[in-house]
Amino acid sequence: SDGLPPSYLMSTSHKAHCLILPFQGQSHINPMLQFSKRLQSKRVKITIALTKSFLKNMKELPTSVSIEAISDGYDDGGRDQAGSFVAYVTRFKEIGSDTLSQLIQKLANSGCPVNCIVYDPFLPWAVEVAKNFGLISAAFFTQNCAVDNIYYHAHKGVIKLPPTQDDEEILIPGFLSTIEASDVPTFVIVPEAERILEMLVNQFSNLDKVDWVLINSFYELEKQVIDYMSKIYPIKTIGPTIPSMYLDKRLHDDKEYGLSVFKPMTNECLNWLNHQPINSVVYVSFGSITNLEAEQMLELAWGLKNSNNNFLWVVRSTEESKLPKNVLEELKLTSGNNKGLVVSWCSQLQVLEHESTGCFLTHCGWNSTLEAISLGVPMVTMPQWADQPTNAKLVKDIWEIGVRAKQDEKGIVRREIIEECIKLVMEEEKGKLIRENAKKWKEMARNAVDEGGSSDKNIEEFVSKLVTIS
Ligand code: UDX
Repeated sequence: SDGLPPSYLMSTSHKAHCLILPFQGQSHINPMLQFSKRLQSKRVKITIALTKSFLKNMKELPTSVSIEAISDGYDDGGRDQAGSFVAYVTRFKEIGSDTLSQLIQKLANSGCPVNCIVYDPFLPWAVEVAKNFGLISAAFFTQNCAVDNIYYHAHKGVIKLPPTQDDEEILIPGFLSTIEASDVPTFVIVPEAERILEMLVNQFSNLDKVDWVLINSFYELEKQVIDYMSKIYPIKTIGPTIPSMYLDKRLHDDKEYGLSVFKPMTNECLNWLNHQPINSVVYVSFGSITNLEAEQMLELAWGLKNSNNNFLWVVRSTEESKLPKNVLEELKLTSGNNKGLVVSWCSQLQVLEHESTGCFLTHCGWNSTLEAISLGVPMVTMPQWADQPTNAKLVKDIWEIGVRAKQDEKGIVRREIIEECIKLVMEEEKGKLIRENAKKWKEMARNAVDEGGSSDKNIEEFVSKLVTIS
């Protein structure tokens, strides 16, 4: 509140210095930022390298870490300027390697030279930069271990896809059970996503050269697949990566979530939630980039209304035009027995933490899923693309903390299904186990990062190795 970083970050006697290189997108940067704060609390100096184009769009930067600019070769417009995702990644490799090296040289004269690069494996070239300078390197996977395991087996050519039928069962070594094609990350099965899949499997291309593989998950959540992957790579789970104030509360004042181009309507949401009964609200959000078809938006609107529960729905401004005005009006505050609030963005952690929130209707992006697990909120899942179907499978069948609202043959989840799923999770006897399991996992998530927990021990081990090798 006084503009200064929290006191635990003010230490000047650092044991080591980590340079953090995220992929430039809020869902990748934010988990790495949370991990950085944990490292800083253990007296590791942190510098986060962000591209000039990304920095330009940020109205506010985190005050808890030091930030330096590098270039992706598109300083004016970033990914939009590049035209295609693949063009962006290719040029970033070329220009990024040079500018990251210059930054390491600059920091060498800062009194605390860099010892280690923690990089997002979307940018595998960072390992070469680390090797050139004789630094330790650690890959930081922002997805969970089950998803990483699937990309690993795609990399090895073990998974033979696309499958011939939608419901064909696929056996993935290390995974908890066989899964259907509709549970596999879409990039693995959609032929048009071939170039993106190439980048995803490339994450493993030089992973045998790194000192650590850090995963944004926690051991108890994914024991079997973590044990399996640990035989191949030096894996350390370090999550959940959400601010300490929502979990173990060991880092004082640590509420800051991170970076976003969206501005949260925090007060409006909290005021409204404060006036709703306990566990009465369905919170609905599809994350920062996923777009729904107009037909799906309409089905969702009526599914929410017909469920007869209160709801708080995040409709990003770019999505708003898909909802007819009269429908929006009808959904809002005064309609029927239930009450709805539609906002363009909120502070999701505060909403999930709020006692009025009873369920989360989510696209199952990994950050959202992990946040719901950490705050004990049961889920109705409506996965759209990328890793979301796999996360939804884990939520429903492995952790048993939610249900999946199934699409029809046109790829749309109909209003009746949405209504049915919400009622099951919110109020029906059939959903009791789901609600109880959600509370159980909340406890386990907190324990993982609390003193002596599985993730805390891994972070301690990481820091002490860093100090020894340095
Ligand atoms: C993308 C991919 O879509 C997802 O599949 C992948 O797992 C991560 O990268 P995104 O769609 O943005 O991410 O979803 P998610 O990972 O869930 O991240 C969304 C973030 O935005 C969450 O941290 C959430 O707390 C935040 N959020 C969302 C808000 O703070 N306010 C909102 O109103 C909505």
